[in-house]
Amino acid sequence: MHVPLKKPYDLSVNHAPKRKDILSHDQKKLAIANALRYFPSHQHTELAQDFLEELNTYGRIYMYRYRPDATIRARPIDEYPGKSEQAKAIMLMIQNNLDYAVAQHPHELITYGGNGAVFQNWIQYRLTMKYLAEMTDEQTLVMYSGHPMGLFPSHKNAPRVVVTNGMMIPNYSKPDDWEKFNALGVTQYGQMTAGSYMYIGPQGIVHGTTITVLNAVRRIAKNREDIKGKLFVTAGLGGMSGAQPKAGNIAGVISVTAEVNPKAAHMRHSQGWVDEIIENISELVDRVKRAQEVKEVVSVAYLGNVVEVWETFFESGVFVDIGSDQTSLHNPWAGGYYPVGLTFEEANEMMANQPEKFNTLVQESLRRHAAAVNKHTKKGTYFFDYGNAFLLEASRAGADVKGTDGNEFKYPSYIQDILGPMCFDFGFGPFRWVCASGKPEDLKKTDEIACQVLEEMMEISPKEIQQQMADNIQWIKGAQENKLVVGSQARILYADAEGRMKIASAFNQAIANRLIGPVILGRDHHDVSGTDSPYRETSNIYDGSKFTADMAIQNVIGDAFRGATWVSIHNGGGVGWGEVINGGFGMLLDGSEAADRNLRMMLHWDVNNGIARRNWARNENAIYAIKRAMEQEPNLRVTMPNLVDPETIQNLFN
Ligand SMILES: NC(=O)c1ccc[n+]([C@@H]2O[C@H](COP(=O)([O-])OP(=O)(O)OC[C@H]3O[C@@H](n4cnc5c(N)ncnc54)[C@H](O)[C@@H]3O)[C@@H](O)[C@H]2O)c1
Repeated sequence: MHVPLKKPYDLSVNHAPKRKDILSHDQKKLAIANALRYFPSHQHTELAQDFLEELNTYGRIYMYRYRPDATIRARPIDEYPGKSEQAKAIMLMIQNNLDYAVAQHPHELITYGGNGAVFQNWIQYRLTMKYLAEMTDEQTLVMYSGHPMGLFPSHKNAPRVVVTNGMMIPNYSKPDDWEKFNALGVTQYGQMTAGSYMYIGPQGIVHGTTITVLNAVRRIAKNREDIKGKLFVTAGLGGMSGAQPKAGNIAGVISVTAEVNPKAAHMRHSQGWVDEIIENISELVDRVKRAQEVKEVVSVAYLGNVVEVWETFFESGVFVDIGSDQTSLHNPWAGGYYPVGLTFEEANEMMANQPEKFNTLVQESLRRHAAAVNKHTKKGTYFFDYGNAFLLEASRAGADVKGTDGNEFKYPSYIQDILGPMCFDFGFGPFRWVCASGKPEDLKKTDEIACQVLEEMMEISPKEIQQQMADNIQWIKGAQENKLVVGSQARILYADAEGRMKIASAFNQAIANRLIGPVILGRDHHDVSGTDSPYRETSNIYDGSKFTADMAIQNVIGDAFRGATWVSIHNGGGVGWGEVINGGFGMLLDGSEAADRNLRMMLHWDVNNGIARRNWARNENAIYAIKRAMEQEPNLRVTMPNLVDPETIQNLFN
């Protein structure tokens, strides 16, 4: 391949902040040598200079000049070249993750979460797409943190792609290790669905956020009528956080979402995800008071720092019913959290050039942030941690968020209070699918099929899961009207093992009957079994095992030999490098008998693995759910816990 011309730095696109200049002189040499491995030696002199410039200017080597000129977006599966339909499905999903309308920093190959990468650089993208276009169903492509290691012989029912992202020797998994080894070009942070090609835009998260906000509101409102006029305050209009205002509207509340990055706020506004943007804090106070008076359902973006919102609302007597935060605190030092008192530009400049001063300001800001929230909660605000490591980082900064009575923190995480006991323990989680034909009418048909399956199931489902079923039926009925699609024709809903299997099987049948084209199944890693994350997905595990990662590792291995089309296992998704192990899968449904067998076998394991573990941790709802699963499937035999009378233990210490 010839060396393409250098490309001008395009300022109309949202770019990743400059990364920390962490490498020593010798390490920079190594980073450049590593990058040059992809190219023949006669091109090295020209490219070496360019890569050094990128490393010095951006802190990473993205190989910008290799960014394709053609538009990157999910195309109908038939338009992809190749010998394997499964590989084509994976190409479609990779391109969706890099679509400029979907990705947060598309030129840096970052899909969401500030540093959630699909690849480290553009040559990895090109090489991977080439392998996928050439491979057969007798081969498996092996991906090491964005780097395609190559095609290895396998067999038809093996995964076509196996992805690992950021897998480190545990002692080398601190945030600065990511900075260093990512800059060297030997690893990457894949977030959850970025490096696993399963991101479907903010819709993926609107549903989870709607369920969370709705159930948070249910905790404070007695009935539907009572919900009107309640105020929800939060921050972040980025990749996932951008779903908050939409979820607020669907849940029927007033929401205020602070966002420091004007590009992010305007993008969500232009996409219709947030109703209004306000730049002046006193105007915001007036607007919210008006909305509270007339119990309006409205979502407002505040273009500024969230700390100002919490402080000013307190001073101005604005009562906040529900509060949370979705700044990217899993990545506090590199653009995830902007400290109050600096402009967006000042902060970006300081984090690159004076990182220590920047870290001090982040911690000061977190202390102020938590202090303001505490004042509100004393007056009755219900505050929960949204799994972004807010409480963890605030406590590390010395903020007053420590808990009492054995609770680590003053406030619960949304998993402890809401999603864990109400969803994950029963097996309900973020099942999703993409219509590979790219046709909106296919998506509509799949919505109808899913709705019909859920309605039939609801008629005979036990009272324990009626609310979850009802919420999901309501969601799927409103999904078309809510115009949730950005990028591929995708849909998400929360379903349990039985629901996922029944819906997927009905899709496969519809494909066989030629009613719809092929469908790609997947899920967020943020699920029942896929993720071991002690402050998030597994924060409602109380037997001490929440710091282990057996479940996530078992899950990905089990999915791989039960027919997944691709599998992935990552370090750090959601809450940060070193804090979590998370995995996922993708599966192409093509209407075949093999697909039907695979979906039943794999989805059953993919959900019940986690229920079994949650059951062993003595979670009441999981004990119920796994007993039910064993009644339904005689080949499932799970070790059950014997419950101990707390007095028996207490007596030992009296
Ligand atoms: N939505 C969910 O269901 C969900 C679930 C679990 C965890 N999370 C977590 O939420 C966080 C956000 O995810 P994302 O994909 O939206 O990340 P993101 O980086 O795309 O968005 C975060 C946004 O917060 C803004 N921001 C940072 N500091 C701010 C401040 N002080 N005031 C106002 N705005 C500020 C940033 O400009 C950015 O646009 C992540 O840590 C993620 O893991 C989200």
